Amino acid sequence: MFTARQTFTSFQRRAFSASSRQSSKVTVLGASGGIGQPLSLLLKLNPRVTELALYDIRGAPGVAADISHINTNSKDIKVTGYIPTTEGLREALSGTEVVLIPAGVPRKPGMTRDDLFNTNASIVRDLAKAAADSAPDANILVISNPVNSTVPIVAEIFKSRGVYNPKRLFGVTSLDVVRASRFISEVKGTNPANENVTVVGGHSGVTIVPLISQSNHPNISGETLDKLVNRIQFGGDEVVKAKDGAGSATLSMAMAGARFAESLLKASQGQKGVIEPTFVESPLYKEKGIDFFASRVELGPKGVEKIYPIGKINDYEQKLVDACLIDLRKNIEKGP
Ligand code: NAD
Ligand code: LMR
Repeated sequence: MFTARQTFTSFQRRAFSASSRQSSKVTVLGASGGIGQPLSLLLKLNPRVTELALYDIRGAPGVAADISHINTNSKDIKVTGYIPTTEGLREALSGTEVVLIPAGVPRKPGMTRDDLFNTNASIVRDLAKAAADSAPDANILVISNPVNSTVPIVAEIFKSRGVYNPKRLFGVTSLDVVRASRFISEVKGTNPANENVTVVGGHSGVTIVPLISQSNHPNISGETLDKLVNRIQFGGDEVVKAKDGAGSATLSMAMAGARFAESLLKASQGQKGVIEPTFVESPLYKEKGIDFFASRVELGPKGVEKIYPIGKINDYEQKLVDACLIDLRKNIEKGP
C-alpha cells in the first residue's frame, strides 16, 4: 500500500517524465518583485517546467540562486537569473515557451490601476520589444497593470515587428476568478475549491463582470448579490488598503499566475479541455469596436484553441456587461 508521500512522489515522477519529453522553458520578467518571487518559486515546484529564466532590473541572479537550491526536479531543471543588460534579457527570452510579465509598479491606496499607466506602459512596451525579437513564438502572459491597456500595447509592438499571433497573447485575469470562488464560498458557507465563477470583461473595477447566474448559486439576489459583485470587482482594493502603501496583491496573484502557466503547459503537452478565463483578442464584441475581452478560453498547443461566448446571462448581468464595455473601450484605446 502506498503512503501519501509515496503516492505524491510517484505522481511527480510520472508528471516529470511526461514533461521531460518536451522541454518547457518559462521566463519571468520582473522576477524579483512582490509577485515575481513567489511566482518563480511556484514555477520551480511545477514538474512541467524544465528551465526557469528569471529577469529583473535588480536582483534576479540572487532570486535564481535561492530558488535553485530547492530540491524539486533538481536533476534536470535549470534556474538562471539574468543581469539587466540587453544580452541578459535576450538570453532569458531565447527559446522560451512561456513569458510571464509581472514587471512594473503596483498601486498605493487611493490609486486606480489606470494611474499606473504612465509608468508601466513604457516598461511593458520595452519588454514586449525584446520578447518580439527573441521569443516571437512564445505565449506572452501579461500581469502588469493596467492589464486592459498593457495587453493591447504588447499586441501593437508584436504587430509593428510583424510577429503578432493573437493566439499567443494573454492578459492574466485568473485572480478575479480565484477571488470570486473565495468570496462566493464565504456568502454560501461552501468549500471555495468547489466553486467556479465565470468572470468576463477586463481586469479593473466595473470591467470585471462575474456571472453569478452561471455559478453553483444562481439564486443569490438583492443586496447580497450587489455586495458580492462589488467585492469581486474591487477585491484588489481590499489588499491595497490592507498593505497600506506597501503594494497590492502578490501572493494570491502568484498562485493565480502559476495556475494559468500550468494550464498553458498542460494544453501544450497535449491535454484536452483545458479552459481558463483570460483577456485575449476576441471576436465577441469586435462589432462594438472592442478588440480584447476576457471570457472562458480553451487552451491548446497553439495557444488559444477556442474562445467561448459569455453564454446566457440575466438582465442584471447585461447591465454589468454594458457598463464594462464603456470603460473597456476607453482602456483598450488608451493602450497603444
Ligand atoms: P513590485 O514592485 O513588487 O515588483 C515589480 C518588479 O518589476 C520589481 O522587482 C522591479 O524591479 C521589476 N521591474 C521594473 N521595471 C522592470 C523592467 N523594465 N524589466 C524587468 N523588471 C522590471 O510589484 P508587484 O507587486 O510584483 O506588481 C507588479 C505588477 O503586477 C503591478 O503592475 C501590479 O499592478 C500588477 N498586478 C497585476 C495583477 C493581475 O491580476 N493581473 C495582480 C496583482 C498585481
Ligand atoms: C489585483 O486585482 O489585486 C491587482 O490588479 C492589483 C491591484 O492593483 O489591485
